[in-house]
Amino acid sequence: MTEKHVMISSHHHDEDAITNTSDNPSFESILQMRLSRRQLLRGTAGAAAMALFGGVGLSSAWAAGQERGSRGVGPHPLKLNFAAVPKSLADVVTIPPDYSFDVLYRLGDPIAAGVADYLNDGTDDPASFERRAGDHHDGMSYFGLSHDGKRDENSSARGLLCVNHEAITAAFLHPTGQTVVDGARTVAGEVLREFFAHGVSVIKVVKKRGKKGGWSYKQDSRFNHRIHTLTTMKLSGPAAETPYMITKFSPDGSKTRGTINNCANGATPWGTYLTCEENWARYFRRIAATDDPNRTAKELASFARYGVEGDGRELWATVSPDTEDDLYGRWNAMKLGTSADGSDDYRNVANTYGWVVEIDPFNRKSIPKKRTTLGRFAHEGAWLGPAKKGQPLASYMGCDARNEYIYKYVSNRRWDPRDANEGMAAGDKYLDDGTLYVATFNADGTGEWRELSFGINNITPTNPAYAFADQADVVINTRLAADAAGATKMDRPEWAAVHPKNGEVYVTLTNTNASSRPITNVDAANPRFYNDRKTTGEDQLGNPNGHIIRLAEAHGKVDATSFTWDVFLFGARASADATNVNIAGLTDANDFSSPDSVWFSRANPGLLWIHTDDSAYTDVTNNMTLAAVPGEVGDGAPTTVNNVDGTTTQAVDTYVGKDLGEEKLRRFLVGPKECEISGFAETPDGKTLFVNIQHPGEDTTPDFATGAFGSHWPDSGLSRPRTATIAITKNDGGKVGA
Ligand code: FEO
Ligand code: CA
Ligand code: CA
Ligand code: CA
Repeated sequence: MTEKHVMISSHHHDEDAITNTSDNPSFESILQMRLSRRQLLRGTAGAAAMALFGGVGLSSAWAAGQERGSRGVGPHPLKLNFAAVPKSLADVVTIPPDYSFDVLYRLGDPIAAGVADYLNDGTDDPASFERRAGDHHDGMSYFGLSHDGKRDENSSARGLLCVNHEAITAAFLHPTGQTVVDGARTVAGEVLREFFAHGVSVIKVVKKRGKKGGWSYKQDSRFNHRIHTLTTMKLSGPAAETPYMITKFSPDGSKTRGTINNCANGATPWGTYLTCEENWARYFRRIAATDDPNRTAKELASFARYGVEGDGRELWATVSPDTEDDLYGRWNAMKLGTSADGSDDYRNVANTYGWVVEIDPFNRKSIPKKRTTLGRFAHEGAWLGPAKKGQPLASYMGCDARNEYIYKYVSNRRWDPRDANEGMAAGDKYLDDGTLYVATFNADGTGEWRELSFGINNITPTNPAYAFADQADVVINTRLAADAAGATKMDRPEWAAVHPKNGEVYVTLTNTNASSRPITNVDAANPRFYNDRKTTGEDQLGNPNGHIIRLAEAHGKVDATSFTWDVFLFGARASADATNVNIAGLTDANDFSSPDSVWFSRANPGLLWIHTDDSAYTDVTNNMTLAAVPGEVGDGAPTTVNNVDGTTTQAVDTYVGKDLGEEKLRRFLVGPKECEISGFAETPDGKTLFVNIQHPGEDTTPDFATGAFGSHWPDSGLSRPRTATIAITKNDGGKVGA
């Protein structure tokens, strides 16, 4: 019997399954340290505890960080220039009254001359999607453009906007959602639309003339182009041209096709864009029962650690018949061929995903490169700190899944400003040759970056969990290497942001739940466990509101291997327990849950923007944007958090940054229904802020007959909702935010 189903892509896809079964870190040892610290803090058994710590004063390293004083954040702190926006459940974008926004770039908008306006009823020509905006806009960057079409870092009048298209809400792309018959996609045109709806957009954006300002994109610009799941990409770095990367598409392992689940981003000082592959693993079809017997123990360990298993998220491999160039079969990661090396099938294809991809937005003919030196995981983004002449470049990166890790890449080459216009050639220099590290957070407020290189930190052929063979094996199996090195499991790392004045690194830990981090597994860096009960009575146990951790590299050096840290901010309802849950003292003007995108303005140095991607506090408010003026690591105090889950209590000592109060932390924007807010870009003058409203209305099962959708933003009426980029300006022409 055949059945037709409407499949709804939902944000639940964002959270790939937990695959970290390593026993990092030893919680017993952390508990030991925690108890010892508590004794010290309370002044009891001090001598004994001192002895236990080998005579080193307990948080001495952290205290040293604390004593650095106001290093670098400046004597004149920024002042937020807007009134706090109230929480809201309305289907609109709300910003402060003296601000305006334009809807700049929506799903389906045409980016070439002659492409029809988007009908938004599911019937738009599938092939035309290669010249339209994709879906689920996420990370993005603005690159200034001169009058005559050259890169101009100071141009605030026109620029190229690179926008990631992370995923799709398939329900709204087709007439009535995805057509699936007996577990297979049967309408090839629907699948083609989806291939094109993922990836990256490069579009020319222009500030409108006149006092009112505002922004539009130029539909017929020669710069406009799309990168998507069919775009040819080169592989570079240690994994390129190795047996691990051999596919039928590339028998020498030098290239692959496409990029997927492009989450957050980065921008290089040489004017290229970095797009990061996050939840790529489940796009591939791999039926374990059939495939496992054909694979080696190492392959199986790798698949398990990354979650490469299942029918394939959008069932792309199921279209039949396939094309001559394996348009659909290339999403099948099973061993189907008879070759010894994989050159007759796509058994290795998953190894060609999970990377940071470099794109030259100024040259549409240049071939994007997957930079394998930066490791393979659920790459949220890749954020480079400010480039300093003669210093290495560092990129900070989160692996977004519960209990995953925070990474750092440091280039071997030192920054030479003469490379600022070298494009992809500079990428070859700074992104192919460097060292990858993973973070460990100690209970005493210090931390360590452990190098992920073959032959050290248990990353060896004799490692019992996974026998590493070479550096290609290490970068492809970065998560396993980080397990071996003893990394600290975190509460779902999302974005990282580098303070432009002092180099301190802020990382969002968006949330976790009780099964991923039970109350007995809280630690200093992931210290909270509580019940955030919804107004509907639904219990939410664990750390459903998330927090933002920040770290200061030793001596301010990006290549340091140690750091100090504290928790900058804890998400919470304003009404939550003030001592152990709403530790940051949030009020109605700034309470939030599940921080995701964080980003420092360059035009307003010291201004930190925060977006939320939340499902915990959504009984009270839609997702939002906040602006903050943070201090620095060590400006707060050691704090004990008392965790309770009804039967168990667990106290943990941590370090908490100074309360910001409403003066330095305020809600700036609230989005429409069922969206997440994602991505930041600004013009060099700081007078325009670009923000993405991702997947409004994604949660409700749509009623296509009546047009009843969860949201009708931005086109209102009975329209289908559309992900879109908005451009925000201040009505008096001043800087946005502060
Ligand atoms: Fe794509 Fe972790 O958000
Ligand atoms: Ca998302
Ligand atoms: Ca995100
Ligand atoms: Ca998220």
